[in-house]
Amino acid sequence: MLTNLRVWLNHFEYHAEQPRALASGTRSALRPEERRLIARSIAVFQLGEQSDGSGLLRAACHFAAAQGDELLPRITELFIREEQRHARLLRDFMDEHGIRARRRHWTDAAFRRVRRLAGFELYLHVLITAELIGNVYYRALEAATGCQRLRALCRTLLADELAHVGYESELILELRTRKPAALRALMRLAHRAFFCAAACAVWLSHRGVLRHAGHTAAGFVRACLAQYAFHLDPPAAWSASVIGPGRRR
Ligand SMILES: [Fe+2]
Ligand SMILES: [Fe+2]
Repeated sequence: MLTNLRVWLNHFEYHAEQPRALASGTRSALRPEERRLIARSIAVFQLGEQSDGSGLLRAACHFAAAQGDELLPRITELFIREEQRHARLLRDFMDEHGIRARRRHWTDAAFRRVRRLAGFELYLHVLITAELIGNVYYRALEAATGCQRLRALCRTLLADELAHVGYESELILELRTRKPAALRALMRLAHRAFFCAAACAVWLSHRGVLRHAGHTAAGFVRACLAQYAFHLDPPAAWSASVIGPGRRR
């Protein structure tokens, strides 16, 4: 059974009852050149946040039944609801500024296709890839705009996403400890390669916003990899203290 699910259930229940609100009174003024810069990009991220989550929930239920983690389905439901709320917040902002929503984009389709390939653990790896890169993107979007409302929206989403990354990385690190060393090494290698490819794809699709925030292609990938290292390659002592004594990466 996974170690800290009760803590995470409390976290997601608390935020379901008291979702982070955008500070009232922030001005939602987007200059025409800003709107041109971000419109397509923000619509792609809104599409990524939007999902009915049925595949993830199914995978979590199967995993929970096999492992005896009875809190996992409820946590997953609340997690999906939080992501859907992000999609709504972004959509509200887009509607305010006449930015059309997208129905599809190749990066979103690729993430969804890979997620469907296997079970809950693969879902976690794909999700955390999107979240870690998304966090670098939301910081860049905040830096690229002078619109107070959009800046507040980026910070609100980031606060939730950092918790999501904490949750997913803890699960991934704990599940890693159950595997033989050679398989662990192979999985990390494969995940890092997928992560780098995903960061490059996000750069290609969002380079206008990212350049405006001061990123170069190499700098953006480096920033994403730094997030990866911080959350998924922590010192062994940290893993042991969070995941529990007697378990090592
Ligand atoms: Fe999100
Ligand atoms: Fe998230």
